[in-house]
Amino acid sequence: MTRPYIICHMLTSLDGKIVGKYFETERGAFFTEEYERIHESYGCNAWMCGRTTMEEGFTLGHTLDLKHEGAPSIPRTDYVANKDAKSYAIAVDPSGKLGWQENSIASWNEHRTDDHIIEVLSEQVSDAYLAYLKNLGISYIFGGKERLNFTVVLEKLKHLFAIDRLMLEGGGVLNGSFLNEGLIDELSLIVVPIADGASNAVTLFETSSFLTQRPVNFILKDVEKLEDGGLSLKYTAKPE
Ligand SMILES: NC(=O)c1ccc[n+]([C@@H]2O[C@H](COP(=O)([O-])OP(=O)(O)OC[C@H]3O[C@@H](n4cnc5c(N)ncnc54)[C@H](OP(=O)(O)O)[C@@H]3O)[C@@H](O)[C@H]2O)c1
Repeated sequence: MTRPYIICHMLTSLDGKIVGKYFETERGAFFTEEYERIHESYGCNAWMCGRTTMEEGFTLGHTLDLKHEGAPSIPRTDYVANKDAKSYAIAVDPSGKLGWQENSIASWNEHRTDDHIIEVLSEQVSDAYLAYLKNLGISYIFGGKERLNFTVVLEKLKHLFAIDRLMLEGGGVLNGSFLNEGLIDELSLIVVPIADGASNAVTLFETSSFLTQRPVNFILKDVEKLEDGGLSLKYTAKPE
């Protein structure tokens, strides 16, 4: 394969919601730990999230004010700060909004230590943001002039960083982008036995103005009963 094998790994409520108050319950916390355990069992050397998820879980809303930075023009070529990392955290951040403070996930999350950050950008990003990433030692790759093409992004991840197996870990918009481009090889769902009940919460696969929606078939590969009534479901994509 010219790209990594993609496993979409997600935790959902019985009604398919990937966010909601159920995360705040004791059972929600238990299944979040199960989610991390199963994440580790896959032994992937990279995981990827959308800008919103990274902002919520990793940069914790830290914003940048780069408007007054008079950065010189920087060519739109990929920048590899570390190609020998043990693992990588990949952020899909087309316009360069994420306020990282270091070049790895180290201090943010006990489960994702030392993962080197790679930003996936569009060419519309500012020179000041590119200078900021270089200064912190964060790698970046370009996925398109305005719109991102994930087939190109994945080929670069394989070629530049030797990433062979990648966990796609939300949110719904990013998962929806991969689903629509036919780029999900395997789906790993942790089903929490709670119905969230909210009608407007983000679901497993979302669409957006830049995507067209289509149904995609999967084949059940494995079912494991978890403690306290949870399920681990594994599906592979059905060849078209
Ligand atoms: N239950 C779980 O297992 C799980 C796992 C992960 C996340 N989550 C939850 O999911 C929620 C966020 O989900 P979300 O769907 O709102 O956001 P998301 O997928 O995390 O991020 C969406 C953003 O990523 C960028 N992006 C994604 N796909 C793109 C594409 N094809 N082209 C260009 N840009 C693209 C855009 O950034 P810009 O807006 O900057 O252009 C877009 O607005 C969070 O609340 C998080 O907690 C749950």
